[in-house]
Amino acid sequence: MHSIREPGAGLPGVTPGFPDPPYAGRPTCARIDLEALAHNVRLAVRLAGPDRRVLAVVKADAYGHGAVPAARAALAAGALKLGVATPGEVRSLRAAGIAAPVLLLSEVSSDRAAEMTRLGCSLTLYTLAYAEALEREAQHEGRRVVVHLKVDTGMGRIGVSPADVLPFVARLRDFPHLVLEGIMTHPSEAERRDSPVTAGQIATFHAVCGAIEAIAGHVRWRHIANSALVLLENPAGNLVRPGIMLYGSAPAPDLPFAGELRPVMCLATAVAFLKRVPSGTPLSYGGTFTTRRESLIATLPIGYADGYRRAFSNRASVLVRGLRAPVVGRVCMDLCLVDVTGIPGVAIGDEAVLLGVQGGERITADELAAHAETISYEIFCGIGPRVPRVYSGGPAEHSDTFGSAAASTSAGRKS
Ligand SMILES: Cc1ncc(COP(=O)(O)O)c(C=O)c1O
Repeated sequence: MHSIREPGAGLPGVTPGFPDPPYAGRPTCARIDLEALAHNVRLAVRLAGPDRRVLAVVKADAYGHGAVPAARAALAAGALKLGVATPGEVRSLRAAGIAAPVLLLSEVSSDRAAEMTRLGCSLTLYTLAYAEALEREAQHEGRRVVVHLKVDTGMGRIGVSPADVLPFVARLRDFPHLVLEGIMTHPSEAERRDSPVTAGQIATFHAVCGAIEAIAGHVRWRHIANSALVLLENPAGNLVRPGIMLYGSAPAPDLPFAGELRPVMCLATAVAFLKRVPSGTPLSYGGTFTTRRESLIATLPIGYADGYRRAFSNRASVLVRGLRAPVVGRVCMDLCLVDVTGIPGVAIGDEAVLLGVQGGERITADELAAHAETISYEIFCGIGPRVPRVYSGGPAEHSDTFGSAAASTSAGRKS
């Protein structure tokens, strides 16, 4: 049973309810295996151990996998909470009926404090201006706002510095409508094994938590661990915040348990056009590739506007009939070319897998990331809204809309 989510909804120029969504007429899609996601969540739960709970990070539309289906699958597999980056992301989860606890991982502008008090989630806090604004609005609304205090133990991004944390917490006593539910920090290089920086961050975090609790009393949640610390079984605190591992990718290939992760996304399309060209034929913009033999060239309906990056030009491969076909010439906005000369029997409509498994071959997000000198996170997040996400493997109630459209939108599954 597959279901599909309309990716263009809310985009400029897309008419809600218009019968022809922006991806119609193309076989390009990202298949999302929610059972694989559930497996990865269960691994995180296991590695976190019995004394810790899991907050599944589903920000940035669950790293491009679809926040609502991913959140539902993660909760069903044992996650207790969800983490997001923006108020809009909280609203999307709530609008879909997800009632689980959500933590908004950054502050937002203080002039939105009134809205924040009504958002129905826990809020990350690290400036007095935000605390004051929240207190004012919460008092006005007659509500309590649950906050997690973020401490900067070395990431250098957001958070109260350890030197300032005690006066900050002392000041919070003046804000009776703010409930301190958590203390958190973020590691800057957790994927490096035996990093003294991480060890120092964890030690500082423990010290800060102890000092805060000495003046503010017991705080329910303490958390630092991202995927790397979960995989290293070095989670500290009593809550962990894995993101990328839930989507089947390890923050570094040599981390323990990396081999146990199951990839969740398969980016696929189908051969749209085939041509045999003589040796010496320049291909695509700028003629950066010229055939050196008579060649069979397949055109695929995916390009950099879909997140299949221009940096993959003349570097990446795709899978056709279980074999690797190199990308030749520049990747264009909507199309790219692959050399299928060595692959017997290629026909229009054949499935082409750009990320994922076909036959015995596999292309990982790390492999693609290396071509673009980036990380798997950016590859996943970059798969654009024009690419429909087609879900399988989730519990029945996890299906999204457009279930009947899935069959016609999925690429031909030949392997
Ligand atoms: C505050 C916070 N916690 C947890 C995570 C999850 O990190 P990862 O995807 O490396 O597990 C992130 C990711 O950026 C984050 O910003």
